[in-house]
Amino acid sequence: MNTFKIAALAGDGIGPEVMREAIKVLRATEKKFGFKLEITEAPVGWAGIDSDGKALPEKTLALCKQSDSILFGSVGLPDRDATIPKEERPERAALLRIRKEFSLFANLRPVKLPKALAHACPLAKERQGDGIDILVVRELTGGMYFGQPKKTENLPDGNFRAIDTMVYTTPEIERIAHVAFKAARLRRKKLTSIDKANVLENGILWREVVTRVGKHYSDVTLEHQFVDNAAMQLVLRPTQFDVMLCENMFGDILSDEAAALGGSLGMLPSASLGASSGEKIFGFYEPAGGTAPDIAGKNLANPIAQILSAALMLRHSFGLNEAAAAIEIAVGKAIDSGNRTGDIFNPNESGAQKIGTREMGDAIAAAI
Ligand code: IPM
Ligand code: MG
Repeated sequence: MNTFKIAALAGDGIGPEVMREAIKVLRATEKKFGFKLEITEAPVGWAGIDSDGKALPEKTLALCKQSDSILFGSVGLPDRDATIPKEERPERAALLRIRKEFSLFANLRPVKLPKALAHACPLAKERQGDGIDILVVRELTGGMYFGQPKKTENLPDGNFRAIDTMVYTTPEIERIAHVAFKAARLRRKKLTSIDKANVLENGILWREVVTRVGKHYSDVTLEHQFVDNAAMQLVLRPTQFDVMLCENMFGDILSDEAAALGGSLGMLPSASLGASSGEKIFGFYEPAGGTAPDIAGKNLANPIAQILSAALMLRHSFGLNEAAAAIEIAVGKAIDSGNRTGDIFNPNESGAQKIGTREMGDAIAAAI
C-alpha cells in the first residue's frame, strides 16, 4: 500500500482546531481510497516556544525533514510579540525559516467563489459574472521578505531608520514564471503578471524575464499589470483573471484581497512547493488566513482552508488526484447543504444553518 509521511504542525490560535478537522477529513479519505497516511504532530510557533523554547524546535524541524510533506496550521500571536526579540517570533523563526530552509519558492493560492456563497462575496452580483476562479502564484523565498540588508538603525539625532531590500535575480523570476505558465496551461490559459515596472528596478527585470519565459508558452496569453491597477481590477472585474503571477510581497497582499472575493479568507488554501524531484514532491500546505486569536478555541473558525490545503497536499505531493478531488467535492457538498461557519453565514439566506468548526469538519468528512 502507498504510505505517505506527514508532519502536522498545528501552531497557534485557531491552528489546532482547524488542523483537527483536516486530519479527520484525511482519515475519512484514507479509509475510502486505501492509502496510508502516517501523520505525526509536532509543536511550532508559540506552541513551540512554550514547549521547547523555540518557535521551530529541533525535533519539529527533524520531523519535517523525515516527512514527505508538511501540513501546517498557522503561527503568530501579536499580543505576545513584545516578550521576545523580533528574530525569534514565529512568523520569522518558524514560517519564513521553513519556506527558506526547504526552498519552497512557489506558493499556489487558488481562489474560487462557490455559487452557493455568492452572498459572501463583497462584490455586487453583476461583477461576479459566471464565477470568480483565480489562481494566485506567489513567489515565496525572495523579494522584500528576505532581501539584505534588513534592519533598523539608530540615527545620531535619536531617530530610527528601517531598511528592507527588494531583490530578485533572473533565475528566481524564471523558475516561478515557469510554474505560473504551466499552471495556466491546465486552466483557462491566461496569465496576468503583476509588477511595478514604472517605478521599481525589480519590476523592470520581472517584466522582461516573464515576457521571455512566455515565449515558451505560446498557447498562454500573457498580460502585464501594475500592482496598483491589479488591486483595483480585482474589485472591478475579477473575472478577467485566470492566473496572477506575483512577487512575494505583492502576492501576499493581492491573495488576501482575492480571498475576500472568494467568500472568506477562511476558505483560502495554499501549497508551497520547491523544485520537483522524482514523483513525490515535498510541499508545505497551509491556510493563508492566519491564527485569528480573537476567535481561537471557540469552535468558530472555518476549517475549510485547512481542509482544502490537505487536498492540495494529496494532489501535489502524493499524486492522489482522485482523493484530492473527493475532498474538494465534499467541501462543495457541505456548503451546498447549507452548512455555514460564522464567516460565510448570512441570516437572510434560506436553508443555511450556522455551525461550528467541528460540525463543519464532520459534514465534510461525512460527504467523502
Ligand atoms: C501569508 C502570511 C505570512 C506572509 C505572514 C504570517 C508572515 O500573511 O502566508 O500570507 O506574509 O507570508
Ligand atoms: Mg498574507
